[in-house]
Amino acid sequence: MAGKKVLIVANWKMYPKSLQGARKLLNELGRISKKSHVEVALAPPFPYLWEVARHKKFSLAAQDVFWESEGAFTGEVAPPMLKDLGVRYVIIGHSERRRLLGETDEMVNKKLKAVLGTGLRPIICIGEYKRDADGSFFSFLKDQVSKALSKVKKDYVSRILFVYEPVWAISPGKPALPGDAREAALFIRKTIAGLYGINIGKKVRILYGGSVDGRNAESFLRESDISGLLVGKESRDAEEFLKIVQCANHISQTYRKI
Ligand code: PGA
Repeated sequence: MAGKKVLIVANWKMYPKSLQGARKLLNELGRISKKSHVEVALAPPFPYLWEVARHKKFSLAAQDVFWESEGAFTGEVAPPMLKDLGVRYVIIGHSERRRLLGETDEMVNKKLKAVLGTGLRPIICIGEYKRDADGSFFSFLKDQVSKALSKVKKDYVSRILFVYEPVWAISPGKPALPGDAREAALFIRKTIAGLYGINIGKKVRILYGGSVDGRNAESFLRESDISGLLVGKESRDAEEFLKIVQCANHISQTYRKI
């Protein structure tokens, strides 16, 4: 998207298994050039945020957040705490949290509003569990987008990033086809335009996630009309992740007017 760098977000999930492993991975990722045309955001587990925050060439992202800013909520982390630490992006509504931890659309909506209110940038995950031939998954996507945005003020919407991440494509699944990702991203954009007007719909940044690797990153970035990628498994393999970043860098310089 014009004027913005391509964004590559590394979702480390609950890895590496030790702080030592996280340090090793960070060291290996140190080869990413500072002059990159790509913004690389790392989303480690909470205990490693501080460690990642020391590496200034990466943007810091959190994998989750709570919606209250203080109180007796054992185990939760408030948006201002993340902000204090230098976090820029917060992933909200990842399908693993929705599916395994009971995160509902209402919870996603509360987290989104809290994050926006704190000045952090939310990354909302949207994606169907199954693709049916008659296309009724589109109404599922529409529902997820509308419920996430319930009562969110227009002024805030262009600060939200959406990730089209079909659940069936998350590894060890197989990636969506770039054309399908393009169609779904366009549909998400149209849904937002329907709620907030064409200008906001045009401005919103949409990423793709689900089994992205060094071989398919290029086709998603070139063919899916997206602003970046959310990478899970392959973001913990430094070689593979470097390939993805290099490819995004090359595309930024060669094909995109940014
Ligand atoms: P994957 O995960 O790249 O391993 O499919 C993406 C994600 O879950 O964010």
